[in-house]
Amino acid sequence: MTENYLSGFGNEFASEAVTGALPKGRNSPQRPAYGLYAEQFSGTAFTAPRDQNRRSWFYRMRPSAQHGIFKPFGHDKVTSGFQSDVTFPPNRLRWNALPFPKTPIDWVDGLRTIAGNGSVNGLSGFAIHLYAANISMKDRIFFCADGELLFVPQAGTITLVTEMGRLEVPPNHIAVVPRGLKFRVELKEDQARGYICENYGAPFALPDLGPIGSNGLANARDFETPIAAFEDVERPTELIQKFSGKLWSTQLDHSPLDAIAWHGNNAPYRYDLNRFNTIGTISYDHPDPSIFTVLTSQTTAPGTANCDFVIFPPRWLVGEDTFRPPWFHRNVMSEYMGLIHGAYDAKAGGFEPGGSSLHNCMNAHGPDLESTNKAMAAELAPQKIDGTMAFMFESCFPIQPTEWALDTPLLQNDYDDCWKNFPKAELP
Ligand SMILES: [Fe+2]
Repeated sequence: MTENYLSGFGNEFASEAVTGALPKGRNSPQRPAYGLYAEQFSGTAFTAPRDQNRRSWFYRMRPSAQHGIFKPFGHDKVTSGFQSDVTFPPNRLRWNALPFPKTPIDWVDGLRTIAGNGSVNGLSGFAIHLYAANISMKDRIFFCADGELLFVPQAGTITLVTEMGRLEVPPNHIAVVPRGLKFRVELKEDQARGYICENYGAPFALPDLGPIGSNGLANARDFETPIAAFEDVERPTELIQKFSGKLWSTQLDHSPLDAIAWHGNNAPYRYDLNRFNTIGTISYDHPDPSIFTVLTSQTTAPGTANCDFVIFPPRWLVGEDTFRPPWFHRNVMSEYMGLIHGAYDAKAGGFEPGGSSLHNCMNAHGPDLESTNKAMAAELAPQKIDGTMAFMFESCFPIQPTEWALDTPLLQNDYDDCWKNFPKAELP
């Protein structure tokens, strides 16, 4: 861990940017140090069970309540949840990557919803947004009242400058910003692109490990939460929020990133996907891809995810008498996939970094002909799959592409062809 981060998943963290700002022994003293204001930030209902309860306390220069009315913010590229007026085809779909902008576009303006499910106000499902930006947000702060945001950068390092500190998130890392936390997205390079899962359901948690035991997959110690950092800026600042599926904005005369200290377990975090402890077969067949789950947002049905975030990282394949690529599949769950870098082992071509594919509930998918032929002909020596990182958002709710996603020229019209020429098995 570096000195700018605290390690662990969902811990009771505490951090102060100014010595003495954090009260000791109580959350809301009569007069916090330096005239700061104490404010609770609740991520679950007060009465959520203790092992799921998330809340933090801020000690800030001004109460967050100090703002005027929010007015509609014009942004027609962001949608939420299931859209009843959009035709929902069962087809398998694949898209090329979102191009980088040619005019100055920040993260907010560069958001584009590609798919969604569930209900933003029914606390179920999620939206999948893409982003492509070439400038940092300036005098502009965002928060999402609708859900927590899982960032999956694909190109360009972003810095999430949040109320609780700064998170640097290069590609091959992810970050999660809790519902309602204010932040600004800054770019470290000339451009940035990636994927966002806006989760309306239960906050992401680490999956149970069952017989795997007490270690493995994403280990809790590898998650990093920022130390407290603030800015004392008195300048007109636009505060944008996403609420009930729409964007709204108000003007402040200061930056709201003015929390001097905080403590609690409702905090942003990042994770380096290279740290994932990948587990697979050492005999035959390969386990279900749930073995690659990094984070899960569960529903109330046991073992059934509102959203599983799953990765396909570098790994050794050693299975004997085994078809080693991801097998042919018909799934009650729905699968959206993205590619951070490299090539995905079930698709020899057509699935590019920054691209997407969608395989909805009960619609058959699997490796393409070229990958299948290669896998069936391969000599089964130990093989390292390297230089790649694909991921999946998997949900019990069918995932609906947006109107834009069905219309855009980025949509490939020949995706079905990759399964067209499979020869029929010849019986004796
Ligand atoms: Fe599948």
